[in-house]
Amino acid sequence: MDEAGLNLADVAADARRRLDPTRWDYFAGGAGGERTARANEEAFARRWIVPRVLRGVGERDLEISLLGSAVSMPVLIAPTAFHRLAHPDGEVATARAAAEAGTVMVVSMAATRRVEEIAAAGGTPWFQLYPQPDLEFTTAVVRRAEAAGCRALVVTVDSPVFGRRDRDLRHGFVDLPPGMVCENMRDATGQVRDIEMDAGLSWERIAWLRGVTTLPILLKGVLHPADARLAVEHGVDGVLVSNHGGRQLDGALATLDALPAVVEAVAGRLPVLLDGGVRRGVDVLVALALGASAVLVGRPVLWGLAVGGAAGVRHVLELLRADLDGALALAGATRPGDLGVDLIAPAARP
Ligand code: FNR
Repeated sequence: MDEAGLNLADVAADARRRLDPTRWDYFAGGAGGERTARANEEAFARRWIVPRVLRGVGERDLEISLLGSAVSMPVLIAPTAFHRLAHPDGEVATARAAAEAGTVMVVSMAATRRVEEIAAAGGTPWFQLYPQPDLEFTTAVVRRAEAAGCRALVVTVDSPVFGRRDRDLRHGFVDLPPGMVCENMRDATGQVRDIEMDAGLSWERIAWLRGVTTLPILLKGVLHPADARLAVEHGVDGVLVSNHGGRQLDGALATLDALPAVVEAVAGRLPVLLDGGVRRGVDVLVALALGASAVLVGRPVLWGLAVGGAAGVRHVLELLRADLDGALALAGATRPGDLGVDLIAPAARP
């Protein structure tokens, strides 16, 4: 990396210079008018912190425990497709950075490297699943992720159909370039299948999946508190408040605005994670203060990957770690567990 970047906006600008416009727009874009993609970031700017003082914050520790495992900070890597469009090493580079940083990479079902190679890069990956209408094939993919050593399944439930993304339509971006495929969509014959969005997906399939695997299951894409309650009833192990980075339903509520009602509905029975628009350490602080156990970042990881491969992703993660560490100290906290809603100005609470 020649220019490291002082913050994630710098890294994004650097990535934009390096990527051809079709790839940049695929990564950066959202659905429709991109209202939700913008709203995710803007929601953080509407919260104000009321810091505590004189609390002896000399020793700080960002480590959290998630699904029984230690994670070095409450910032994980969201599943994003097609990492080889950002860097030739693709998901293997991302996994190496996650392992070095002691955090979790959620491997997309649309990864362009094999889950076995990604897991071999180290760390404790989780696997994101779009349940396929072919149950036998879905089971085979789950078995493959299990065998590779993935520690949890993240089931994306906000995508009964593909979101309509104007930037991709304008570029005519419909498929990967020659030589790149979704490596984890190979069937028993070695044929690569297209990922299907299953519009028929319902809670029954979650119950079915619960019977297929003993891995922890997290539902990704929950915004409505009623769905959060159903998630608890269906015996899942966590919910991820997400609107797919604004790439599915444009007009969907910003994730930070959806978070409090989901946290209330879940009432401590499951960890609640959040992604969408996290760009600064203080954003992580705000999400945790409003009840998230951890956050995930999507696009910033792709910017880092485009700029410098594994080192670029590592840089993005370390920027967030240092920024969060400083924000904790300045807010009078020493651990993620210290953060509560009292730190958010009442007028700025949802
Ligand atoms: C995504 N996201 C995503 N989600 C998922 O469940 N499976 C996937 O394959 C992808 N692919 C994907 C590609 C790209 C280019 C982006 C930007 C996003 C959504 C992702 O997991 C996450 O919800 C958002 O990216 C979070 O928002 P930020 O951090 O990008 O603002």
